[in-house]
Amino acid sequence: MTSNKHSIIIAIDGPAGSGKSTTARLVAQRLGFIYVDTGAMYRAVTLAWLREEKPEIDIFLNNLPDISLSRDSETQEQKTLLDGVDVSNAIRTSEVTEQVSYISSLKKVREKMVSLQRNIGIDHNVVMDGRDIGTAVFPNADVKIFMIADLKKRASRRLEEIQSKGIHQVPSLDELIQQMKDRDAFDSSREIDPLKMADDALLLDTSNLSIEDQATFIIDKVKSIIL
Ligand code: DC
Repeated sequence: MTSNKHSIIIAIDGPAGSGKSTTARLVAQRLGFIYVDTGAMYRAVTLAWLREEKPEIDIFLNNLPDISLSRDSETQEQKTLLDGVDVSNAIRTSEVTEQVSYISSLKKVREKMVSLQRNIGIDHNVVMDGRDIGTAVFPNADVKIFMIADLKKRASRRLEEIQSKGIHQVPSLDELIQQMKDRDAFDSSREIDPLKMADDALLLDTSNLSIEDQATFIIDKVKSIIL
């Protein structure tokens, strides 16, 4: 859907485990838009820092790794590349999850990732999920959604996801609840572009909604603005 008009941007923000990525992926699929998982980009930077064995942060920031995205030719699923190598699975470990809030709070990291994200939106209709898409990356997004859900529910969903992937070290529900609480607190209180609902975003509480309900809600909003 390219035209003289600007690309259509759907911004989906919210805390960890609120259902953003599953819903965003489905919405993108149905509308023929590109789905962009921005958390994966911050995770890839974090993975680079860990692989370099946590160098002094200023040294790391002066030579940030090259992060790019590609698409699976059949499924269109996002692949996240670190220095040209697909790290889509490697960025999902608990080590990365534990450090990603810190690395993503750093100004130089954010500047670089935000610039990459804006570039994708120049010539593509996108559904982009993250923490600051509607507030900082695309403050003029066509549709902004802020997703929330009950903490216990979010942690249970994450646990199911981990179990379904057959990951060996499965954390307990209580551990997951604590991790999510800590990460949300850090992401919401950081100085630069914290996790925050944009004034003009629509609040979507997914605690008792199915993925289908969530996708329909967003698609209806998109249709109402483009028709
Ligand atoms: O969505 P996720 O859990 O994969 O995101 C990992 C971390 O990346 C999250 O805790 C905060 C950071 N992040 C961010 O700061 N800004 C974004 N737009 C997306 C993620």
